[in-house]
Order: sequence, then structure tokens, then C-alpha cells
Amino acid sequence: MSTAIVNIGELVTNDPALGGLGIVDDAALVIEDGSVAWTGPSSKAPAADTAFDAAGRAVLPGFVDSHAHLVFAGERAEEFAARMSGRKYAAGGIRTTVERTRAASDDDLRANVRRLIDEMARQGTTTVECKSGYGLTVDQEERAVRIAAELADEVTYLGAHIVPAEYGNDTAAYTHLASTDMLAACAPHARWVDVFCERGAFDADQAREVLRAGVEAGLSPRLHANQLTQGPAVRLAVELDAASADHCTFLSDADVDALASSETVATLLPGVEFSTRQPYPDARRLLDAGATVALATDCNPGSCYSSSMAFCIAVAVRDMHMTPAEAVWSATAGGAQALRRTDVGHLTPGARADIHVLDAPSHIHLAYRPGVPQTAAVWKAGRQV
Ligand code: NIG
Ligand code: FE
Repeated sequence: MSTAIVNIGELVTNDPALGGLGIVDDAALVIEDGSVAWTGPSSKAPAADTAFDAAGRAVLPGFVDSHAHLVFAGERAEEFAARMSGRKYAAGGIRTTVERTRAASDDDLRANVRRLIDEMARQGTTTVECKSGYGLTVDQEERAVRIAAELADEVTYLGAHIVPAEYGNDTAAYTHLASTDMLAACAPHARWVDVFCERGAFDADQAREVLRAGVEAGLSPRLHANQLTQGPAVRLAVELDAASADHCTFLSDADVDALASSETVATLLPGVEFSTRQPYPDARRLLDAGATVALATDCNPGSCYSSSMAFCIAVAVRDMHMTPAEAVWSATAGGAQALRRTDVGHLTPGARADIHVLDAPSHIHLAYRPGVPQTAAVWKAGRQV
């Protein structure tokens, strides 16, 4: 069964051979067996079983949202309102969601993850990373990664999100649990291990303990780094060859140099700065230094309750001085690199057929028309959603 998408006004391929977004005008694309089988001029499109007329619209790779916390119950709208009246965001707010999540049934948590992944798909997101981190007991974290693995493309064990209330100040004891029994229960369901390395959460030594144990258990590291302070987390991420250092809001020159000379992607989460009223990360400084930048939502009930990659792109362009092309690349190919995936984030032959037809003639409209729904059609692995 093959499908030809014809009359594409602007096809964003992210083909490195073409540079930048690898744009092809007046293009067509053929999907076969869930993959991209052919791209080229619309006038030369080979015959296919069915055709979809893009009518001059832009076609992009589906967004790759490489950072989200979807296994949770409840919401924290009051906390957001208080922040907008001047209260500062602090790591401790996570505990409110931990209480609600522990009390929820498996079916409630599963329904929440499904609801948000569906919401993302309707906005063009076709690859989703999902973290645990609101359970914080062996059984609750195991349940979170297990449910995430049923629904998300990429699963991250984040037992070291915050020290739960019942541990008081005994961060060492909780770090030990997160590096041993909890990790052992979660590792079979996850590909990644993550730590919130920050003042009020886990310091660099504690983060290293969990991440090293995770690597020994077969997981690959990624890290919540430098979200609230200019701490040691970014350099720890580079030291451990983490796939990604996420947030990167407060960076020293040494942090920027370390990222630029490594394979670790700097994943920026503009929705968090928007929703916590922090300064935006300096995307230009990272790009100009030669670092690879990804954009993701961080969708979670505390620091950013938005699932919209288009919103992230608009903010990154308007307030972080990325060009529309850089922002769209970071939300697709950049996210794929942050997940060390080569099958998504681009539309060249052999890629997974994750396709986002925009109700607009070019990718620039994602930033140019903020807040406007512009998703006309979406395919995930060759199936229209
Ligand atoms: O990425 N920083 C740590 N974790 C989340 C926030 C979680 C929450 O506030 O519930 C984040 O911002
Ligand atoms: Fe996060």
C-alpha cells in the first residue's frame, strides 16, 4: 500500500546534503510500508495506490518532542497563577504532583498519557519522549515507566526527580534507592536515565551516582541541567556523553564550550521560561559557538503545561533570536539527535513516514502566526492520524 503526497509547495527534508532545512519546492513524497520511499519534483512523482493533494502547502517532518513528563495526575493552575503574580518557581512544587500521582489508578495515568500524546499528534508531533518522576517509590516509578512504555516512543527513568517528602533531608538514602532497587525495577521499561541536577534536587555527585548506575544497567544518560542556577550539571552531561543536556537556561562560557565540543545536544525548553517567567536561554550563543540545539516542550503540570511545539518555535524565534529555519530544524532533526535517533526528524528516503502537512505555504508561518492551529494532516509511521 503506497500513498503519494503531491503538490507540496515547500517540502522540508532536513537532508544534510542540501543544508539547513533541505527545502525542495513543488515537490512530492511517496510513502510505502511506513517509510518514505521517494521524494522529488511533483511533476515526476511515481504512481501510488492513493494520492493526497497538498495543494501548495508546506510539508515537514513530524515534530520530535524529546522532553516531556506525561505520567501524572492533577494540575497546578494555582501555582502558575501565583507565579504570574511574582512567586518564584522552585523544585519543591513537584511534590504536589507526586501526591496526586501516587493516589491515581493505572487507568487514570494511562488515560492522561494517551490524552496528551493525542493532543501532541493533532499538532504535528510524531515522536514523544516521556519521563517518570512523579512516583518516587520503587513500585510507583516502575508503574510510571511501564505505562509510558505502552504509549510513548522513548521512555526515560527519572526516579531522581526530587527527594520525596518521606525521606526528609536524607538525599543520600534516596539517591541510593534510585541507583539500586528502583533502577533495577525500571530499567527493563526504559531506554534513558535522567536526573534533575539542581539546587533543591540532586547535586552533581548524586546525579553522577544515579547516571553511572543507569549506564551499568544498560540505560543511556540525559540530564535536567542548569534550569535554575549556573551549576555543574551541563559539564556533568558532557563528561558522561549524555545525549542531551536539557534546559541550559544559565550557562557559563565553559558550559557553552563544553557543549560545542561534544555530541551532547543542548535541548532548550522555551515554554518553561514562558511559564516560570525566567530569562530565556541564550540560543544564539549556543548556535554561534557550534553547539547542536533541540527544542522541546517539557510538557508537565508544573513548569510548562503546554504540548505545543509550534508555540516553542514561535517563542524561540521571537525571544531567543533563532531564525525560523533554525527553530524548525531544532524541533525536528534536533530533537531526533537529542534522542540519538536516525529514523525520524527528516524526510529522506528510508526515514519513518512521520509527516506534518501545514495549513500554510511555508515553515515560517509556524513563528509568523503564533497561537493559530496550522496542522492540516499528520502521518505517523505511514498511518494518517
Ligand atoms: O523539567 N525541572 C524538573 N522537572 C520539570 C518540572 C516538574 C514540575 O514542576 O512538576 C521540568 O521543569
Ligand atoms: Fe523536565
